[in-house]
Amino acid sequence: MDWERIMVVCLCHRVTDRDIARAARSGCTDYETLQDDLRVGTSCGNCDDCARSVFAECSCAGNPTPANGELAFA
Ligand code: FES
Repeated sequence: MDWERIMVVCLCHRVTDRDIARAARSGCTDYETLQDDLRVGTSCGNCDDCARSVFAECSCAGNPTPANGELAFA
């Protein structure tokens, strides 16, 4: 079976790395708009650093899709 890795970034709002990538692909260009759209990071805030990193990775170089289908995290 071929399992696809999906990471839940925001537990409060059940936002995954794929949700963030999809938003970036759809033209979301700033983190505040991402928060308005997905509510990521708008409750406890524990996910904020990770969400920003994922969004930056998806947004940089106009390439919202990770090359290998996975997102790397610092
Ligand atoms: S885990 Fe994202 S706001 Fe709480």
